[in-house]
Amino acid sequence: MEKKIIAITRGDGVGPEVVNEGLKILKTIAEFTEFTFEFRDSPAGGEVYKKYGENLPDKSFDIIKSADALLFGAVGLPDLPPGVAETAILRIRQELDLYINLRPIKLYESLRDKCPLKEEFIGKGIDITFVRENTEGLYANIGEISEDRAENLMVYTRKGCERIIRYAYEFAKKAGHSKVTSVDKANILKPSQLWRKIFHEIGNNYPNLQKEDIYIDAYCQWLIRAPDTFQTVVTGNMFGDIISDEGAFLIGSLGMASSGNIHPGRVSMYEPIHGSAPDISGKGIANPIGAILSVKLMMQESFQSSDIANEIEFSVEEALKEGRTFDLKNPEIENLTTKEMGDLISEKLKVRLKR
Ligand code: NAI
Ligand code: MG
Repeated sequence: MEKKIIAITRGDGVGPEVVNEGLKILKTIAEFTEFTFEFRDSPAGGEVYKKYGENLPDKSFDIIKSADALLFGAVGLPDLPPGVAETAILRIRQELDLYINLRPIKLYESLRDKCPLKEEFIGKGIDITFVRENTEGLYANIGEISEDRAENLMVYTRKGCERIIRYAYEFAKKAGHSKVTSVDKANILKPSQLWRKIFHEIGNNYPNLQKEDIYIDAYCQWLIRAPDTFQTVVTGNMFGDIISDEGAFLIGSLGMASSGNIHPGRVSMYEPIHGSAPDISGKGIANPIGAILSVKLMMQESFQSSDIANEIEFSVEEALKEGRTFDLKNPEIENLTTKEMGDLISEKLKVRLKR
């Protein structure tokens, strides 16, 4: 099999700590399957800014552009003004046109004790994939600010809606889901009216999938009231930002949640959703599972290997029964460091891939 080139951006704070564990998983895959990887460092973020005056030097961006995928840790430093490090992420998303933000949230059976919801609300369990539009809407940076007035323009194009909605239906079909939910604010916002129209136009090509429209305000409530009724959820940029963070906490810890910034067929970026966590960085205690599940998404979406992706997920689930990092503390289960957690998952994966 041809070699895959993976750009590695460790970033700041806990970024390097969790990316190391993601790399461990990729090395395990290379050892036991026919995949081969070449890793190329593409430094970015706050520490890089302090050294070179730029958060994403051209040299790093060139490495990213010429790779097959990017594994990204987190960026941001408490002694830099907000945005100085973080805009590196926006530049990567925009310039590579990564229009899909994929954020799965799954509550593992072994973590039910860590879900903040009561049993009656967890119901049959939580397994939702948020598909967020990642390039248009209020975050496209069309606006102005003066001392007395500030504005952002919310623009959605037919092309922008069509490509994300089509991806969501295809994703649902591949995942064996029975329903796609669209979240909008069509009772108030014009872009949402166009969005909703296109959601149903494209939906006509998927007669076997049930379609559902929910307003964003109501959805925030339904997500905690009946999370077991959602499967694939497609939504615009700002709504997706908000509901995916709400969802991330339902699975036990921010440290568990993974994401992909994707443009099918091009270099895509995989990252845990958490930030650089300055309050715990340097201690070796961060949860590496968000980064490890980001590798899972990379295998699934960029390298079309759902089998290996599933094995990674099973390994995580098994490992959590034996050991956990501090954010998922349970007195009956061993407390592990970042590295120990990564080792345990990698051991589980080895056993599975050897079979
Ligand atoms: P954060 O996600 O870094 O931390 C929030 C809380 O979650 C903290 O208490 C932290 O200790 C905990 N946490 C985060 N990751 C964890 C992990 N893997 N294991 C265990 N606990 C974990 O968010 P915060 O504090 O708002 O931001 C810190 C910096 O990160 C800021 O500079 C922010 O701009 C940046 N940031 C960067 C992101 C990225 O690179 N994609 C995303 C979000 C924030
Ligand atoms: Mg966010």
